Amino acid sequence: DMNHFLDIHKTDAADLRGIIDQAAQTKAARAGKPKAALDEDQPLKDRMVALIFEKPSTRTRVSFDVGVRQMGGQTMVLSGKDMQLGHGETIADTARVLSRYVDMIMIRTFDETVLTEMAEYASVPVINGLTDRTHPCQIMADVLTFEEHRGPIKGKKVVWTGDGNNVCASFLHAAGQFGFDFTFTGPSQFDPEEEFMGFARKKGSKVVIERDAFKAVEGADLIVADTWVSMHDAQSAKERRHNMLRPYQVNAELMSHAKPDALFMHCLPAHREEEATSEVMDGPNSVIFDEAENRLHAQKAIMRWCLGT
Ligand code: CP
Ligand code: NVA
Repeated sequence: DMNHFLDIHKTDAADLRGIIDQAAQTKAARAGKPKAALDEDQPLKDRMVALIFEKPSTRTRVSFDVGVRQMGGQTMVLSGKDMQLGHGETIADTARVLSRYVDMIMIRTFDETVLTEMAEYASVPVINGLTDRTHPCQIMADVLTFEEHRGPIKGKKVVWTGDGNNVCASFLHAAGQFGFDFTFTGPSQFDPEEEFMGFARKKGSKVVIERDAFKAVEGADLIVADTWVSMHDAQSAKERRHNMLRPYQVNAELMSHAKPDALFMHCLPAHREEEATSEVMDGPNSVIFDEAENRLHAQKAIMRWCLGT
């Protein structure tokens, strides 16, 4: 039974829960082992996985590559620019060709239709490694990280600061699927798309927009920041974005208005002293490097689910 992992709202809530629990289990099972030690059951034995990048990456690239190898599989990392895909070959043809060589495809791209078309024409599972609109693997790692530190995320209050971007969108999907409340604080030009907020609301989550960052974080269990200029944003807009988003910087003062044990997350890469201060990023409530590590564990569980192994 094969599954694509395209987005959190497109995946059954019970399956999402299963993926998180599986990730926690396999993480615990290999605690203390060297990084390249094989998992005992080798669920990806004899499998080949293609990792396609049309944008830069550190975490996604390394965590998928290491994860596949730990599970006994093999990887190839492909740059979109160097593929015929980047020179006019259709996505559909690329998907059909790759399906003859590999057992699974992970792709990081710009336009979300590249991902959905790849999934439509591939006969192997396709995984979303980030598009301009969403970043589901990141938020699976974030849910895992929250629950490791604070127990069930259901019913908790998550506050997103700054730009209502692709990572924020997947957080809203997760709010709906895992049953937590979500507050966005940022300028109105940067509000998350209505579609994402609507999904979470329809699933019963309380979704709030609060322009005052200090009010927004009251009672927060988790505060999240991300870059003010994403890979898909025009560099020419950088200064204007910075000027508008600066009031939403996560600093020690803002953190002091949340619950005393509120966690801080950032998917990274970060621009220190911009969207968040080093004082917060390296402070006692920050779990940013656990998040990065958990990309590995969450994605291993996602890949197993995709292949039904
Ligand atoms: N968080 C994240 O996806 O990082 P990379 O861009 O380094 O993959
Ligand atoms: N919002 C950021 C996330 C990077 C992992 C971007 O899309 O550039």
